[in-house]
Amino acid sequence: MVVPLISPSILSADFARLGEEVRAIDVAGADWIHVDVMDGHFVPNITIGPGVVKALRPHTAKPLDVHLMISPVDAFLEAFAQAGADIITIHPEAGPHAHRTVQAIKALGKQAGISLNPATPAKMLDYLIDDIDLVLVMSVNPGFGGQSFITSQLRKIEAIRKMIDKTGRPIHLEVDGGVDVDTARRCVDAGADVLVAGTATFRGGPDHYAANIAALKGTV
Ligand code: DX5
Ligand code: ZN
Repeated sequence: MVVPLISPSILSADFARLGEEVRAIDVAGADWIHVDVMDGHFVPNITIGPGVVKALRPHTAKPLDVHLMISPVDAFLEAFAQAGADIITIHPEAGPHAHRTVQAIKALGKQAGISLNPATPAKMLDYLIDDIDLVLVMSVNPGFGGQSFITSQLRKIEAIRKMIDKTGRPIHLEVDGGVDVDTARRCVDAGADVLVAGTATFRGGPDHYAANIAALKGTV
């Protein structure tokens, strides 16, 4: 059985103690740290920018998994790369030239991800998949933590797993939104290998992070 990597979304952390929260999830077994960047334009919420990513960088050696929900996006790639992002994921709808944006991320020496909204078909990846390192399937509409998992996305995860296997390249398949112990299993069964979890990681406070992450991995 595949044990997924867990990328806790710091959107559900205590923003007044963000450095401490990142250290706590690192020690508790997080594999990556998921950073949700929202602009109040591409999505109906505003979160954080490259300055916060830079401030968090010294608090963990784990990969910073930066999910950009901003439009336009190209002008900000360099700032996030310099701030210490390891993986930069964009939405193809956020700009007219997704392929160019992927090339720009790679030219900055970072791993490139493509995120698909719930209504966006897997087909969107046809001419991008050979150039990317990660696919992020949104199992909620982007903008907020704490929403319910949209089960139709399981079919999309299955389809993308087949596409990835066909490439023979090590492309991560990550799922984001409404992931809890139950939906985590279903995502892994459908072919996901990385799970984002905000609410399900931070529930109960720091004393619970390790148990929450282990439960999501299915190792307890
Ligand atoms: C939604 C974000 C998610 C979100 C996940 O736009 O991309 O990363 O924070 O939160 P939960 O796990 O609470 O659904
Ligand atoms: Zn996210």
